[in-house]
Amino acid sequence: MKLKFFLCAALAFASTCANAVEITDAHRQRARKLVEQMTLDEKIRCLGGKTSFSLWGNERLGIPEIWLADGPQGLRNHAPHSTLYPAGILAAATWNRDIAARYGESLGDDARARGVGILLGPGVNIYRSPLCGRNYEYMGEDPYLASEIATEYIKGVQSKGVIATVKHFAANNQEWSRHHASSDVDERTLHEIYFPAFRKAVQVAGVGAVMNSYNLLNGVHATQNRWLNTDILRNLWGFNGILMSDWTSVYSTVNATASGLDLEMPKPVFYKPEKIKDALANGRITEEMINGKVEHLLSTFIAFGLLDRVQKDPDIPLDYEKSRLTALETAREGIVLLKNKDNILPLKGRTLVLGPNCDTIMSGGGSGSVSPFSVTPVSKALRQMRKNTVVLPESRLYYDITSDVFTDSTCSRKGFTGRYYKNQKMEGTPAVVRTDSAINFFWEYKAPFPDFPEDHFSATWSGFYRPSKDGIIKIRISGDDGYRVIINGKTVTGDWGNHALSTREIEYEVSEGKGYDIRVDYFDNISSANIICTFGMMDEETLNRELRRADNIVYCTGFNSGLEGEGFDRPFAIPAFQEKFINRLASLNPNLTVVLNAGGGVDFSRWGDAAKAILLAWYPGQEGGQAIAEILTGKLSPSGKLPISIEAKPEDNPCFDSYYANNDKVRSNDSRECRHVEYKEGIFSGYRGYDRNGVRPLYPFGFGLGYSRFEFSDLTLTPAGNDKVEVSFTIRNTGKMEASEVAQIYVTDNECSQPRPLKELKGFEKVKLQPGKSQRVNVVLDKEAFSFYNPDLHDFVVEPGSFTISVGNSSDNLPLSGMIDL
Ligand code: BGC
Repeated sequence: MKLKFFLCAALAFASTCANAVEITDAHRQRARKLVEQMTLDEKIRCLGGKTSFSLWGNERLGIPEIWLADGPQGLRNHAPHSTLYPAGILAAATWNRDIAARYGESLGDDARARGVGILLGPGVNIYRSPLCGRNYEYMGEDPYLASEIATEYIKGVQSKGVIATVKHFAANNQEWSRHHASSDVDERTLHEIYFPAFRKAVQVAGVGAVMNSYNLLNGVHATQNRWLNTDILRNLWGFNGILMSDWTSVYSTVNATASGLDLEMPKPVFYKPEKIKDALANGRITEEMINGKVEHLLSTFIAFGLLDRVQKDPDIPLDYEKSRLTALETAREGIVLLKNKDNILPLKGRTLVLGPNCDTIMSGGGSGSVSPFSVTPVSKALRQMRKNTVVLPESRLYYDITSDVFTDSTCSRKGFTGRYYKNQKMEGTPAVVRTDSAINFFWEYKAPFPDFPEDHFSATWSGFYRPSKDGIIKIRISGDDGYRVIINGKTVTGDWGNHALSTREIEYEVSEGKGYDIRVDYFDNISSANIICTFGMMDEETLNRELRRADNIVYCTGFNSGLEGEGFDRPFAIPAFQEKFINRLASLNPNLTVVLNAGGGVDFSRWGDAAKAILLAWYPGQEGGQAIAEILTGKLSPSGKLPISIEAKPEDNPCFDSYYANNDKVRSNDSRECRHVEYKEGIFSGYRGYDRNGVRPLYPFGFGLGYSRFEFSDLTLTPAGNDKVEVSFTIRNTGKMEASEVAQIYVTDNECSQPRPLKELKGFEKVKLQPGKSQRVNVVLDKEAFSFYNPDLHDFVVEPGSFTISVGNSSDNLPLSGMIDL
């Protein structure tokens, strides 16, 4: 039995990095003095948003109003447009700390240009299942990689005098039922998998703010979870910044106050003066608690200089060239080449570019959305780089047939009959009946007609269509809230529930001369109301002609903000029509490259073999098309590596049977009852789970191809004192072009009193080399690299004994290994 020794001090009180902003005693004293001068009302006012993205100032005391903005991949608020960076998952796929720091610095610049003091990012929730709608904002499945990227990002943001907010604390690993689902996770798993990125944000990066999540953790809402917010965050990790709620994630006045939550956003509901004063009068909370919260807010503002300067920096342009270059450079390093059969890439000869995502830049949906000043789509960039590029945009591939729809089968009047109801269920006699030439309405927060309600209304449109030839119609519908398309009495697609804007797309085959009764149903529950439905007939002649002429095809496809985003989970598979279309393309021209937009893994089983090359572009930001084109043409060797494992089939995922019961009843967000998501796989999620279960993922963690080749050699392991080990090895570019490779270092505990993963990532280094050149890489692993969390001792420990250290360029390709005793 190995001896144990403890790392409590090392992990709980690690000092912050030299360049991290620190909240000092002097800042706290100044804050305390301000608090002493405040009335109770003034103090309570500090605890809730003034508007959704601002906090109250106090003119009398010289405290300015503070502005907040999303986060995490660009500035969403306080200006209509901003640089759209690649999503967090792509930032993690760069495996490049310098890029992460630059990403953060540029976000900090953009914040200063707009006068924003608090940036609501980064998001660091761990990728547990590909279905989580917000995976795209986060940093993958591995706590070490996520921590390294997130800490650099935070330090970058904060170096510009902007407070970063690490979110969503904690275990917000599904979007389904996010207000009511309890993530039930054991203590060890929290400390080893779901907490590290938050802990290091606090202890290494000195993050100024933390945002609680919507979900419950082990049965208690995060915003009122005292163990989480006080015992762990404040007392164990030493956090002394601002703890804020997510937007409407507070559920109690007394419990949230007592748990340690400082700030309720977007406006005070439970932290309203009446409620706080009531709780004070009842003695259920104390004024010291209120003082402490205001002190957290003010001392953080003071430490970041927000009380001593105007936050808006007029010298930084809103559309900043430096930020645009950061977006481009990040995209260049994080796009992952998954497959390149027959070395079909780089492209040769005449290329046909098409697909729903070729002419635009896709992004995940929700609060992470950013409206950029400009975008560079793949088609534009490729055309600029190669003369031999032909683009078949969606608008040419599908011609609109809406104008061929009649109100009924007499075909006497064009358009749809629209029936509008003042209730949500299309009940009774419609209040308005009229002819609509198209279904394309953006009512937003307004009522559709003067005497209509703004919320809780519904509509149905009916039309008749008789095609003059056989063909395929693409139906695309997006809406907020429920919608469905019914053809000849059968529902063909829809998202019939209360939700934010979402999109569905299908292909529907029609036959010449046959009549089709089309019905589109819609309802608005609350908030914004939008519905758009288009019908496009595929121009098969043009498609076939262009396919025959092309030497190779680039099809840009995958998810978009309506299919993957905040507030809902997504399917594993990309839409069925896309899968079918990929197979159709490959059958007509086998030289097919698929450029895929997704925030995580997808089901490749029905189309992966059809594509010779697959480039996983994630959501690559406004300059993404340029980076993709550089890779497709061979100007740049791809160097992104997967920050996730991609399973061959859904049931291979270690959390498959404990994500949540994935059926329609449970998937509905309507019920308010608390549901439990039990993290049964414990610490064995991602590659830790595949290794334990002996299942090989289709694409393993850390994997990614390039156009060059690298060789690893000469591993040496040297004790460096105080349980540190210096790992050194040589990496050589044996291929023909300049390229970057990510050296990955995994640690195996060969003998342990507790079950441990077969290996865990504990170090990495991205190295750029000219062909034929080599470099010696040295990485020091500290105690933490060898430790695990012992739940009996409530602490991280290292059990002395032998450890294996493996080095390579993917979790399943580790050519070097050596053993060392600690
Ligand atoms: C999201 C947060 C976001 C906030 C403000 C919430 O819905 O969960 O991540 O920062 O909205 O937009």
